[in-house]
Amino acid sequence: MKNNKRKVIFDCDPGLDDALALLLALASDNLDILAVTTIAGNTTIENTTQNALDLLYFYGRSDIPVSRGNANPLLGNFSMGAHVHGKRGIGSVELKSSPAQEHSLRAHDLIRKLLMESDEKITIIATGPLTNIALALTLYPEIIEKIELISMMGGSLNVGNIGAATEANAGNDPEATHIILSCGVPIAMFGLHLTYTTQIYPKDMDRIESIGGTFAKTIADFNRFHFQFYKNELGFKGDPSHDSCAVAYLINPDIFTMEEYNVVMDLDGKYSRGQTIVDLYNVTQRKPNVLFGMKSNREAFVELVYDSVLKLSYKLSK
Ligand code: BDR
Ligand code: CA
Repeated sequence: MKNNKRKVIFDCDPGLDDALALLLALASDNLDILAVTTIAGNTTIENTTQNALDLLYFYGRSDIPVSRGNANPLLGNFSMGAHVHGKRGIGSVELKSSPAQEHSLRAHDLIRKLLMESDEKITIIATGPLTNIALALTLYPEIIEKIELISMMGGSLNVGNIGAATEANAGNDPEATHIILSCGVPIAMFGLHLTYTTQIYPKDMDRIESIGGTFAKTIADFNRFHFQFYKNELGFKGDPSHDSCAVAYLINPDIFTMEEYNVVMDLDGKYSRGQTIVDLYNVTQRKPNVLFGMKSNREAFVELVYDSVLKLSYKLSK
């Protein structure tokens, strides 16, 4: 029987903020996650794939297939994030090992299969480097028609974390980002300038923990670990939950102010390779290709996070 939920494929590099983003998607009544595909980025592909399996098990959804993606970008190597996400990619939390095994198909092949077999369009949530999706689009261009939207965390308006103005997901695989930005698929983009504003404050983490039980405490601890880097290195007051923005938008778009712009990837710049170039005043007269996140309502975002943890925690306790 058909359900009215939006069908999604979740491509990610968990990753502490990916872990929270996945929770939001699982807790939502609007989203039906068909598969989780993994990419290296925050940590190695071995770690991100095992983390995806273990997180789904922890969230009570080990029925969702997990498929391993690329260990490397299309060119060069990833700049990994152990300094932010810990050695294994999920901070200091010890999750139980999932009894589930990864899917036999590689990520780009599973993406193709799911899209081509579906009688309705599918949304791709992308919270890691875009390599798997770019490979799928390049090898199987027929999938373009089947993609409803790519809702992605990546890029920025002149703010960087792996370069002065280069964001990790977009800049870790510039060629892949270029392929996504130029393929013609609708894109909703949540860049670093925006995700730096969706901060979960320590008092919000305490409120999440106060839900009670190990589930809620573990989620609060994911945020606390992620916050350490931003507090110590950047002087932030809260934990910027980057990846959850790409999911929160699908659940409650009103949290964000979105504008249509033309966005391209700089592939050649000496200092700017990997940066997203956003044409705010349409100087180039190129057609807008991205619905670009400009502002967020922090309170509404944090409320959604709290409600999602509460809901899943309650469901798992039954
Ligand atoms: C992005 O890079 C990773 O560290 C995070 O998981 C997020 O997807 C932020 O630039
Ligand atoms: Ca991520």
